[in-house]
Amino acid sequence: MSLLFACDDVPPAPWIKALQAELPDLDIDVWPDCSDPLAVEAALIWGPHASQMDKFPNLKAILSIGAGVDHILRAPGRPDGVPVVRLVDPGLRQGMIDYVTCHVARHHRDMPAYAEQQHKALWIERRQTLAHERRVGIMGLGSLGKACAEALVGLGFDVIGWSRSRKTIDGVGCFYGEDALHSFLAKTEILVCLLPLTPDTTDIMNHTTLSALPPGATLINVGRGEQLVEADLLALLETGQIAGATLDVFRTEPLPRDHAFWSHPNITVTPHIAAVTLARTAAPVIADTLRRLAKGRKLLNVVDPGRGY
Ligand code: NAP
Ligand code: GLV
Repeated sequence: MSLLFACDDVPPAPWIKALQAELPDLDIDVWPDCSDPLAVEAALIWGPHASQMDKFPNLKAILSIGAGVDHILRAPGRPDGVPVVRLVDPGLRQGMIDYVTCHVARHHRDMPAYAEQQHKALWIERRQTLAHERRVGIMGLGSLGKACAEALVGLGFDVIGWSRSRKTIDGVGCFYGEDALHSFLAKTEILVCLLPLTPDTTDIMNHTTLSALPPGATLINVGRGEQLVEADLLALLETGQIAGATLDVFRTEPLPRDHAFWSHPNITVTPHIAAVTLARTAAPVIADTLRRLAKGRKLLNVVDPGRGY
């Protein structure tokens, strides 16, 4: 089997080592070098490279090196009929749980406000709320959203979630479908976005939906930047409707140096690191997909291009 590694900003050496430890006979070419385009049967992609896959007539699958597949599905000229596989990996799951629980706890315990108080040498006790008195709402209950919801339940939070189809998750109040979005938001004090980017979820966090949250709610966006209307968030921070936000993903990445988010007192910016794909946990998952491909067995986690995730 021959794999094409076409991942922008990802150093290939650790990946080649980890993948060949799983599959010693795997040939790996690193884009744009490729000794034999006819031999390439799978491509591991991050970035717009799905557009260039028509150069590989025997390609049988396009694998995302991340959980999101928006970078693949929106690439013009992506070969029709070649299945796209998203990454479901224990490292991504744990990384996202670590990030989301950390930032939920920060907002829950008013840590951004205490940091500001420290800056001004102010000794002021703020009202304490207990975890079970705090409602956290997670948009997207897929592999990452469900894992975060369960972790937050384990920490004692009052957790609700929203998805496209009906779900049952122990300890989580589940809402589904467009009609239930408003009721879900009206009950959510800390909103976590873990939706994939699709035409339906683009701009989903806007003036109307963010105004449906209780006044003083906070937002954690770890989905995609295009899901948030940035000017609407800034306006609602101004009025206090939104008290604060942790943002890991942005409409333009890297976030431009002159962007208002960098210096906003109520916004925490991180550089798209909520859950980074690690070769040591993802290589066994990718190797399993390649073995299935080689044996003609059913692939797992194949994306539905019509749904967009
Ligand atoms: P997933 O397993 O495909 O789950 C997606 C969830 O979103 C599902 O529960 C789905 O509902 C729901 N959903 C999709 N469209 C919807 C809509 N229109 N209305 C309501 N719910 C909708 O995805 P995942 O692996 O959890 O990953 C989620 C996203 O996280 C990725 O696509 C990526 O954008 C982002 N991510 C970010 C980072 C980071 O570092 N910031 C890292 C990894 C992933 P159903 O269950 O009903 O289908
Ligand atoms: C990161 O954003 C991912 O989709 O894995």
